[in-house]
Amino acid sequence: MPIVDEHYSQSLQTDDILNRLTIAYPEGPNTYQLAPIDQLHIGGIKASKKLSQRVADLNASTVLDVGSGLGGLLRVCQQQHNALYVSLDITHELGQINQKLNLLSKNDSIVITGNGQQLPFPDHSFDVIIMQHSLLNMPDKISALKECKRALSPSGHLILHEVLKGDNHDEMLFPVPWARHPELSHLINEEEITELIDTAEMRIQSIEDWTEEALTWRTRQTNKQETPQAPVVSPNMILGSEFSLMGKNVQRNLQCNAIRIVELVIC
Ligand SMILES: C[S@@+](CC[C@H](N)C(=O)[O-])C[C@H]1O[C@@H](n2cnc3c(N)ncnc32)[C@H](O)[C@@H]1O
Repeated sequence: MPIVDEHYSQSLQTDDILNRLTIAYPEGPNTYQLAPIDQLHIGGIKASKKLSQRVADLNASTVLDVGSGLGGLLRVCQQQHNALYVSLDITHELGQINQKLNLLSKNDSIVITGNGQQLPFPDHSFDVIIMQHSLLNMPDKISALKECKRALSPSGHLILHEVLKGDNHDEMLFPVPWARHPELSHLINEEEITELIDTAEMRIQSIEDWTEEALTWRTRQTNKQETPQAPVVSPNMILGSEFSLMGKNVQRNLQCNAIRIVELVIC
């Protein structure tokens, strides 16, 4: 099993997650009730809502989420804009839960297990491809970007919501939610991603720095973790008891500029 699958599947409490959701929300959970487990990125559902607005503005008919995890982003998109949505993730177990969450919440995106560095789709299949905190786990970024270019329609857009190296990356603390150890964290800086996008023969249409709001969000999450109220589901059920430390490390890494959060729209 490649190490990335292991990172995301080793602490998964699949049955417990599904039982708790079914009991707590007999009518089906909404996107906010699922957010503690299916928005596995820095910025939570608020960041996904901003991305879904981009998808709606681009009036996409076909949308692929590469590294979709439990699929929270596409459930948010589906509320806002009608399109054919496809989730792809290398961790099969996450895709299985994604499918079950779709059933519980009456959503219908297609869920596929696959590698973002080698997409299992014909050329020009999608109007929009999104990567939300998944390029950070991919060592072969140029293949991932070239695959996106190939699978996008000629007028298509790639949207990245990713973690980049900050100026003080040497101060990076582990574990973080995407890597218990540095070997699984494949971060690059803005200059490097710009060069790779150029090499993949794509062009940056816009770049926004979302670090400040990401830090505000992360600080609020850390404070919530310290209150005694137990939520129905929590990220610990995905990433294990180390999640609390992972969250605090993300906060510290943002504060000391070891990492930055950006959104890039690429065409
Ligand atoms: C930090 S999680 C983010 C999940 C989701 N995008 C979200 O924001 O909730 C990173 C995800 O990328 C997936 N991933 C990592 N490498 C991948 C690859 N080469 N191909 C497809 N998915 C990958 C992992 O399995 C994991 O689900």
